[in-house]
Amino acid sequence: MAHMLKDVLINTLSLEEITKLYSSFDVIGDIVIIKIPESLYSKKYLIAKTLLNKIKNVNTIFQQTSPVAGDYRIRNLEFLAGEEKTVTEYKEHGCVFKVDVSKTYFSPRLSTERLRITKLIGEREIIVNMFAGIGTYSIILAKKNPDCIVYSIDSNPTAIELCITNCKLNKVENRVIPLLGDANNVISNKLIGVGTRVLMPLPEKAYEFIESAVLSLENKKGIVHFFAHIKSNNKKNAINDGIEYSMNIFKNYKKKIITCRVIREVGPRIYQVVTDIYLL
Ligand SMILES: C[S@@+](CC[C@H](N)C(=O)[O-])C[C@H]1O[C@@H](n2cnc3c(N)ncnc32)[C@H](O)[C@@H]1O
Repeated sequence: MAHMLKDVLINTLSLEEITKLYSSFDVIGDIVIIKIPESLYSKKYLIAKTLLNKIKNVNTIFQQTSPVAGDYRIRNLEFLAGEEKTVTEYKEHGCVFKVDVSKTYFSPRLSTERLRITKLIGEREIIVNMFAGIGTYSIILAKKNPDCIVYSIDSNPTAIELCITNCKLNKVENRVIPLLGDANNVISNKLIGVGTRVLMPLPEKAYEFIESAVLSLENKKGIVHFFAHIKSNNKKNAINDGIEYSMNIFKNYKKKIITCRVIREVGPRIYQVVTDIYLL
């Protein structure tokens, strides 16, 4: 859920200060993560305490002090107010997730995309999620599609530990199989030719894993959800640019592009895009 930060702080900061704020912030369970511009650092504890008082069911406030970075896609956090803890429970689409916001990637902003993919799953599908984190996509897909099986790969040991816990919490432990390791290695060792569909939710470098994604599909045919960051003039152009980029990345394969959609803007004129590709 993205609240409007400016609305919450309207009576706490001056108008000039309000205009400097980033507009939204993340609420993950009872933890709030905000970004504060450097010019307002002197007000950070006041901002945090106001959020703590004004937002229902929130117990902890962190400031994000670095971009999402590194192999595990983690952001640095500075504790500002409330209860000093990094683990919380987050609910989405009828599922519950234990999340550690400091040791694993997690974004509530992908909720719509998770539901979109969930609705595309056919009967008895076998899905390979190459970059599954704490299991958010994997578990929602499995919960809503009771005859599918999901292989849920991640290289971050904490993410896999949480994924195992989350599978039990959502009673899908017999159909979501958490696998720790690099997606290339896990697929070449255990998952060649098993899947009907593969998810690649690592937009920064999914393009480096195309061969493994294809290898995981039965007879190298099936659906690929390919995530990418696309530089484009505007949201509308990002779709055409995303299609062109995917056509090029998958140029060695016979394919049909089913659809391409912009998930969100992640920087100035940089869009996170997902392309659904049918490998024939
Ligand atoms: C952007 S996050 C997405 C996580 C999850 N799909 C979600 O939406 O919450 C990407 C994940 O890929 C994992 N990762 C990065 N490189 C990897 C690799 N080579 N093999 C497997 N997982 C990897 C990271 O640890 C991280 O959890």
